[in-house]
Amino acid sequence: MESLERHEDYGQELLDESHLLADPIEQFKLWLKEAEQSNIYEPNAFVLGTVDPENHPRSRTVLLKGVGEEGFFFASNYLSRKGEALAANPYVSCVFGWYSIYRQVLIQGRAHKVSAEESDAYFNSRPRESRVAAWSSHQSQPIESRAALDAQFESALERYPGEDVPRPAHWGGYLIVPNRIEFWKGRSNRMHDRIEFSRTIADSGVVSEWQVQRLQP
Ligand SMILES: Cc1cc2nc3c(=O)[nH]c(=O)nc-3n(C[C@H](O)[C@H](O)[C@H](O)COP(=O)(O)O)c2cc1C
Repeated sequence: MESLERHEDYGQELLDESHLLADPIEQFKLWLKEAEQSNIYEPNAFVLGTVDPENHPRSRTVLLKGVGEEGFFFASNYLSRKGEALAANPYVSCVFGWYSIYRQVLIQGRAHKVSAEESDAYFNSRPRESRVAAWSSHQSQPIESRAALDAQFESALERYPGEDVPRPAHWGGYLIVPNRIEFWKGRSNRMHDRIEFSRTIADSGVVSEWQVQRLQP
């Protein structure tokens, strides 16, 4: 096997508990802004891990479309593989890998479908072609050819000739309510910094305070 071992020095910039904001979501927003300012391509892209009803994990990239104290928002097709996995098991893992600035954020939480009104509001903010595309792809289903896919798009364009493209019921948003958020900062000699925030969310909805701990690299 060809060795892929490289020895990159991840630098000296340290991540100390005292550098982080008390609220990890505010801290995430700060790092996201710094990732944007560092010209990272698609800084809001993250790898979303789900587990399907047969207990098979699967990961794929999606785009973060909103973040706030209520959680992390993304949108997708509810009938896709991820949609089917989430319907059976709402627990997710998220990885934001901002490698060129030696940072990573890991989030664990529970994904909830947002209300139809919230999905409509986000859907309607999208360009017309993106809205039409939501009608023209049965995400994750096989199709015989690219030509057949293009034909589905063309026929949806004809069905919705104007700006008024309604949201398909099978397309919408999810809110990930986090119970664990880890900030990782690469350091020299593989002695990286890892600071993890965690909290418990009871079935009753009662949420504990965030606890902070440093993890070994
Ligand atoms: C940069 C990037 C951003 C993406 N953003 C989304 C997204 O926001 N929503 C989505 O459903 N798929 C998005 N995708 C496509 C997914 O990675 C994936 O192919 C699709 O959602 C089907 O996944 P599934 O079959 O596991 O459900 C994105 C892919 C890339 C590479």
